[in-house]
Amino acid sequence: MKSRRIKLAPSILSADFSRLGEQVAEVTRAGADYIHVDVMDGRFVPNITIGAPVVAALRSWTNLPLDVHLMIERPEAHISRFAEAGANIITVHVEVCQHLHRLVETIKSLGVKAGVALNPATPLSLVDEVLPLLDLVLIMTVNPGFGGQDFIESMVDKIARLRKMLDDKRIKAELEVDGGITTGIAPKVVQAGAEVLVTGAAIFNSKQDAGGALREMRRALDLAG
Ligand code: DX5
Ligand code: ZN
Repeated sequence: MKSRRIKLAPSILSADFSRLGEQVAEVTRAGADYIHVDVMDGRFVPNITIGAPVVAALRSWTNLPLDVHLMIERPEAHISRFAEAGANIITVHVEVCQHLHRLVETIKSLGVKAGVALNPATPLSLVDEVLPLLDLVLIMTVNPGFGGQDFIESMVDKIARLRKMLDDKRIKAELEVDGGITTGIAPKVVQAGAEVLVTGAAIFNSKQDAGGALREMRRALDLAG
């Protein structure tokens, strides 16, 4: 089914925050590829989570790339702090960027990989002009703000359309999907062309431990592959 190795990016949003470092170490040992960090400001999305100090604290618990998803207004005012804290990928939402090209260039000038995220209702055409500059494009498969929501099925077609755009233009940006990814849904989004899967509740709210849940997700992909 897939020609590329699929990356798994556990989202710490659903982790036990009282032992966040240990949980990150656990999914690192179990074979995670990125650690996905959801930053929310209570304005762009109706929830508040964490900031740069937590990114800095996580740095000592994992060597994996820290994949920082900024669900915040005015991201340009904050990216340097996240870069200094140790973020390896910084993803901003196209819906809040008036000068997306400039912001992407700024992120890259800080030595950090640049990603752009699109909400479910946001058309792919809004990122068309910057695609060649990007390291990552994030398709939201739920409306951002909370973990544990249901995957929006119509996003499968959007993922497939973005895959085609990237392939047709020979653009190397990774295609990441975020929201409602379970062992049942993972093979479907990979089939559509996703290559980085963010997954929160399915890893950290599972009946088994986080490491076991991650390995199960990997097995589900291997079996489908
Ligand atoms: C949603 C966040 C996601 C979320 C994913 O706003 O961006 O990263 O935590 O978690 P699940 O897999 O539980 O939907
Ligand atoms: Zn996210």
